[in-house]
Amino acid sequence: MLEPIDKAALAATILRLKKERNAVILAHNYQPGDVQDVADFVGDSLELSRTAAAAPQDVIVFCGVHFMAETAAILAPEKTVLIPDPRAGCPMADMITPDEVINWKAQYPGRKVACYVNTSAAVKAECDICATSANAVQVVNSLEGKEVLFAPDRNLAAWTATQTGKIIIPWDGYCYVHNNILARDVREKKKAHPEAKVWAHPECRPEVIAMADKVLSTGGMVREARTTDAAEIIIATEATMVYRLEKENPGKKFYPAHELALCTNMRKTTPSKVAAALEQMIHRVVVPPEIAARARVAIERMIRL
Ligand code: 13P
Ligand code: SF4
Repeated sequence: MLEPIDKAALAATILRLKKERNAVILAHNYQPGDVQDVADFVGDSLELSRTAAAAPQDVIVFCGVHFMAETAAILAPEKTVLIPDPRAGCPMADMITPDEVINWKAQYPGRKVACYVNTSAAVKAECDICATSANAVQVVNSLEGKEVLFAPDRNLAAWTATQTGKIIIPWDGYCYVHNNILARDVREKKKAHPEAKVWAHPECRPEVIAMADKVLSTGGMVREARTTDAAEIIIATEATMVYRLEKENPGKKFYPAHELALCTNMRKTTPSKVAAALEQMIHRVVVPPEIAARARVAIERMIRL
């Protein structure tokens, strides 16, 4: 049983296992701080997909949620992708099934379908192109036709529609973490910190986005934090985001719009589970080749943009 006695010992174990297995550890920006600290690369969904595809190692330990690890497995089919806790799913990704996409497309013949990266590989396989919060505007603008289907996040769809000349027909899905951040939470934080700017993730409700000075992916927040003149920022996204922002920008203050905006699934990963996955080479993410081949078309179209 792998239970080293302290944080430093656990970090040393992970480092040894990483070398033995020729592995790289990737972590999403919402991962708990102690997981980010043992990762080789921390980023948003798009950055992690690109890093997985380019990684020279044989093994990728993907600290995030299942659809992200699936995307890595699709883009790097020759590598072994491990997810430290296989129960780490995304409830929003589960809000649409492949059959639902097929039926939906039949109702809107001739329309292109963009799917958020927060979908299963089987759903991606039924869509024309994939999108992330960092590139949804560019992706939708690239599609032919005035009307476009977008699944599953209705909030990201609504915000993207305001940034493009397209009419977006949304699927009625949402992220419970972002949807639970209310305009009154932002108002209260503004009252407590009147000088603070507001940055919101596009998965937030339209009324929260309307209060934001900037709408950014998690990677966009990391980059913006490095260059902004603002000394205080209210962050309307998963509250763990503040960990990386504070760590990298000690002179600036970041306040979560809601301290309880926490993604239960992202928090399932721990350094001990990372070590266990590497030691036992368990929890491999495998996408059936026929689904992977079709999903890869949608993902690669996005990456080419
Ligand atoms: P980003 O692509 O902005 O990192 O968002 C991923 C996600 O799951 C947000 O809830
Ligand atoms: Fe899914 Fe929301 Fe968690 Fe992101 S924060 S992984 S969209 S449940």
